[in-house]
Amino acid sequence: MAQEVRGVIAPGKNEPVRIETILVPDPGPGEAVVKVQACGVCHTDLHYKQGGINDDFPFLLGHEAAGVVESVGAGVTDVAPGDFVILNWRAVCGNCRACRRGRPWYCFATHNAEQKMTLASTGQELSPALGIGAFAEKTLVAAGQCTKVDPAASPAVAGLLGCGVMAGIGAAINTGNVGRGDSVAVIGCGGVGDAAIAGSRLAGAEKIIAVDIDDRKLAKAREIGATHAVNSKNSDAVEAIRELTGGFGADVVIEAVGRPETYQQAFYARDLAGTVVLVGVPTPEMKLELPLLDVFGRGGALKSSWYGDCLPDRDFPMLINLYLQGRLDLEAFVTETIQLDEVEKAFERMHAGDVLRSVVTL
Ligand code: APR
Ligand code: ZN
Ligand code: ZN
Repeated sequence: MAQEVRGVIAPGKNEPVRIETILVPDPGPGEAVVKVQACGVCHTDLHYKQGGINDDFPFLLGHEAAGVVESVGAGVTDVAPGDFVILNWRAVCGNCRACRRGRPWYCFATHNAEQKMTLASTGQELSPALGIGAFAEKTLVAAGQCTKVDPAASPAVAGLLGCGVMAGIGAAINTGNVGRGDSVAVIGCGGVGDAAIAGSRLAGAEKIIAVDIDDRKLAKAREIGATHAVNSKNSDAVEAIRELTGGFGADVVIEAVGRPETYQQAFYARDLAGTVVLVGVPTPEMKLELPLLDVFGRGGALKSSWYGDCLPDRDFPMLINLYLQGRLDLEAFVTETIQLDEVEKAFERMHAGDVLRSVVTL
């Protein structure tokens, strides 16, 4: 029997979000229904609402979530009712070419629940944001989207690992392979960049240089672990990073903005043998022009980081344990907790740069 719950819907392009009653079916084979306890507000939710991702309205928004498994369908053995889980938007298949070559973070056959949640009033099918749809009291996902973690962690903190914070930490520890004693520069200190700073600190980086155009963001970045801060509105970011690294450039430069000028800064701010990690997502029309001699003349690596190249079942429990041991301050990322009916306002605050993360708690 489908259950009626409240959820936040984006009804059409650029229309304000609203709360509707939605129908959540019983879990089918390989599926789970999760009672959502917390869900962070992410830029991607805003992009869905603006029609920037696709036109499959109405969307059920929300995808940075943690909660408790309520019921599971046939064949589900990895999670059980009562488990505290973080949801991920990339349940890998285990069997495609990427998975079989030991690179599941490039899996191209990721899956979501097959059944659909619907609008109670019209029966319309809902498109859950990133296959999750967790601005709702309950949601239906593929069981592989649930990763069990220690329930001692607060849901608001745990949910953030489901997207932006994992993307940033993973950019540093998985993609960038930051190591003890490394110098790291992070360009763009929003939620993702700050998480890259936290990840670099965790990995033992010696110098962590935060770069942003907003002094408020730089102050927060220092709290999270940056050892140096550069306001690139007032000074040349590449020069400043070189100066702070003995003239060489950083071992790892992490770009967390997604713009041509910051991609360019990242390219030139690395040590000749350094690594550039691109985690900021550009738009289709953006281009970067580089002299080929500069491309040829610099060694190292240019890597993009997709969801922090994470493996949820490996990385979520580990990061939660580090948090519970007091070695990773995830609470610093929760600016405020809000109610379901405050998502629209949270988008405005996010847009104004006032918050790292607003988290809906239920
Ligand atoms: N130079 C340096 N910093 C900049 C610049 C610039 N030219 N332009 C913007 N910024 C800073 C902003 O001041 C802000 O602190 O980049 C930060 C971006 O942060 P958010 O908007 O909070 O975005 P966030 O959630 O951190 O995501 C950053 O990563 O995963 C991707 O899609 C995501 O592309 C986005 C990026
Ligand atoms: Zn997100
Ligand atoms: Zn696969």
